[in-house]
Amino acid sequence: MVICMTSIWDSTIPKPEGINLPQDAEADVVVIGAGICGILIAFYLQQEGKKVLVVEADTIGSGQTHCTTAKITAQHALFLDKLVRDVGYSPAKQYADANRIAIQEYEHLIKDKNIDCSFEKLPSCLYTNTQDGMTALEAERSCALTLGIACEYRTKDCLPFPSRASLCFPEQAQFNPLAFLYSLAGELTICTHTRALDVEPHRVITDKGSISCGKVIFACHFPFQNYPGLYFMRMHQERSYIVASDISHTARPGWASSHTDRPTGLQEMYYGIDDDGLSLRQYQHYMLLGGDGHRTGTNSTQSRYTDLLAKAQELWPGSRPVSSWSAQDCMPLDGVPYIGVFSSKRPDWYVATGFKKWGMTSAMAAALILKDLILGRPSPYEDVFAPNRLLSHQAFQSLGTNFATTSIALGKQFLTRAPRSAALRDIPCGESRIVTLDGHKTGVYRDAEGSLHAVTTKCPHLGCQLHFNPEEKTWDCPCHGSRFDFTGRLLDGPAKHGCGASCPLPH
Ligand code: FES
Repeated sequence: MVICMTSIWDSTIPKPEGINLPQDAEADVVVIGAGICGILIAFYLQQEGKKVLVVEADTIGSGQTHCTTAKITAQHALFLDKLVRDVGYSPAKQYADANRIAIQEYEHLIKDKNIDCSFEKLPSCLYTNTQDGMTALEAERSCALTLGIACEYRTKDCLPFPSRASLCFPEQAQFNPLAFLYSLAGELTICTHTRALDVEPHRVITDKGSISCGKVIFACHFPFQNYPGLYFMRMHQERSYIVASDISHTARPGWASSHTDRPTGLQEMYYGIDDDGLSLRQYQHYMLLGGDGHRTGTNSTQSRYTDLLAKAQELWPGSRPVSSWSAQDCMPLDGVPYIGVFSSKRPDWYVATGFKKWGMTSAMAAALILKDLILGRPSPYEDVFAPNRLLSHQAFQSLGTNFATTSIALGKQFLTRAPRSAALRDIPCGESRIVTLDGHKTGVYRDAEGSLHAVTTKCPHLGCQLHFNPEEKTWDCPCHGSRFDFTGRLLDGPAKHGCGASCPLPH
């Protein structure tokens, strides 16, 4: 069985090309990152007459946008009840309204521009199989209704898999994110393969030249600029895994759909709130099943995809797996994204990050908020997302957890020893070891053909010890989530460059 290791979206539509960075480039606004957040922000500002330039280290949508399950939902797992308890009704209402409006704005924009992106409205449901989960869903229901978000609590077993209760939010949506993204990107000036390396108050320095500008927006998933802002202290990153299976030849009793374009399948989207909960949605005749998440840099198993594939077979016997991929999410201390002015020390820099697993609605909310702020208008939603907000009690607890993780990973790099390079011969194919090579701690991976590949285990961001992820054959940082392939090539920031080892491997 051959499964494509890229997302289902990548095969649906050709990728558009950007342009090369012009010499002596100038712009009113430079947006760093051509994912859905950066493209939406650039689009709205350009509509308002701003000269906007987008710079992207790789290709359009190549970060997390092509890895999403692309649910457009104001239902963000169990969150509203917690948010009200943490910060009070009024900020929670802002959060709920911003996400509710974001869904409406997607619908409006897609209709207005006639974008063919498989947009469809359908309910999004949380589900549980535990008594504690049922209690939590009831609390979430009461809170959501208080905040003006419609939802229905159901205890009958009406999901296409076992569940004791569900909480369903109507009028949510899903789409093909790349079809949407590429359509808007066609209207913008985007310099691809142009990595931003440093930012001055009114200048962005890239590996292809620099750009003078009035404002800068960090829409690059995790801001790479450490100071000011200290976003690396205010977020960690998590990975999760997704498999897509062709269900066109499966036959499940009771699954006959009233949708003519869906011979078999889901009438809703699902997200499990229990520890083993799954994320499900359908795209055409493919079922997308996600889950098995963990903090980046902490996975030591090689069974996450196989577990999901087994689950897919259990749910849709006879389904055919077609692709599998993973996603990386930024998790803010209090669960609320950071959207607004980057730092009081840099009033012309803006940031949109920390979207957790809800990047589609968060990106649209960010675009609407930042458009208002940059045009000098107040946004009705700005306060709850303001990056300089006070830390809640829960945020302090998360800060403590992040601090402890960072201390351990720094201690591992600087206070522990690794065996000498003689241990290299003992590395089986497909496995890795951390050894001492020429006096340097080195991560070594032996590929399926028997060749060795080395990286330095000291994360180029702030020096934590990298951890090998056997599921993806990558070196991941537990501190702030930077990732590198087994040759040391940078995959995810906040690190700004790779970690290939400088010393040669012994033969
Ligand atoms: Fe910050 Fe590795 S990502 S030290």
